[in-house]
Amino acid sequence: MDCRGCAVLSPKRIAKDIWHTLKLVRGMRNNPNLGPELRQSATFRFVTRFVPYRFLRHYIYPLFAGRGSQPYDAKAFFESYHKSAEGGELSDGTTVSPAYDAAFARYHYNATENAIIEALTTQGTAAGCSVLDIGSGAGHWVDFYLDVFRATHVTAAELAETAAAALRERYAGNGDVRVFQGDVSEPDLELGRRFDIINAVGVMFHLVRDEQWKRAIANFARHLNEGGVIVVGGQFGWVTRNVQFHSSDQFESWNALTAAREELTLVNKRIRSLRFWKTAAREAGLRVIARHKTKQAGYIYTPENNILLLGGRGE
Ligand SMILES: C[S@@+](CC[C@H](N)C(=O)[O-])C[C@H]1O[C@@H](n2cnc3c(N)ncnc32)[C@H](O)[C@@H]1O
Repeated sequence: MDCRGCAVLSPKRIAKDIWHTLKLVRGMRNNPNLGPELRQSATFRFVTRFVPYRFLRHYIYPLFAGRGSQPYDAKAFFESYHKSAEGGELSDGTTVSPAYDAAFARYHYNATENAIIEALTTQGTAAGCSVLDIGSGAGHWVDFYLDVFRATHVTAAELAETAAAALRERYAGNGDVRVFQGDVSEPDLELGRRFDIINAVGVMFHLVRDEQWKRAIANFARHLNEGGVIVVGGQFGWVTRNVQFHSSDQFESWNALTAAREELTLVNKRIRSLRFWKTAAREAGLRVIARHKTKQAGYIYTPENNILLLGGRGE
């Protein structure tokens, strides 16, 4: 039995765990791996029984960590990130976090898949759609739309050359999948066709500059078929805030970056409030159709993976 949440600890072990947790918290400005490390702490898990993890992560942590940090170079960062994947192979596990284990990754994708299925079937999305998948990474959502919604075509858009090359190799024999390597926030992006579904899960919060993020949404609006839907993964709560930081865009391995304990001067994740999303959608000629809360369980702290559906204004 996994006793992460219920282990009976001796007073000595409790004292040691509290001390270790305090050390982690004190070193937060130099530790890009704080979340996964805190998750191992019984003290932290005890605290999150009373103060929700999301509250600590979205409201408290940003007040102290990464103060004054600057936007990162997403292409350089993700190319380092993908190269440092364990065994050199991109997978769901390495996509969620280099420090996450397979069980956490599986839970995250299962929960997110269920949320998308609920959201799209409620919406009445028919099988046989064309899909644009934004920031495809290891290709999880490409497979999902091919398998579950019988997509007739998927364009996988990916910024990092490392991931785009892996995607090309993976779908080499599949004429229904096209890989586009580039930045979806490029002004006047043109992919040569429109889509029934644009899927942007696990990626919009990595566009940390607001202007760049708005340009991406405008690009999505131009690439959406009439009656089509945009599926976005994120938080969509009350706050717009930088929530994840690191120290360098160029690194050999995640372990090396973490071990360096350099000051966190770069932002790689910015969550936007529902209100912020509504305004940006309106400016792009879109509207928010629905927000869907993704299931979360106990001490499994999944990345921000609630689902927002956007559609055309006239529909
Ligand atoms: C955290 S991964 C998520 C991968 C995938 N969407 C998933 O949920 O499994 C984010 C991916 O988005 C890509 N990305 C980040 N910014 C991008 C941009 N502006 N245009 C296209 N892809 C981008 C990154 O290179 C990375 O592979």
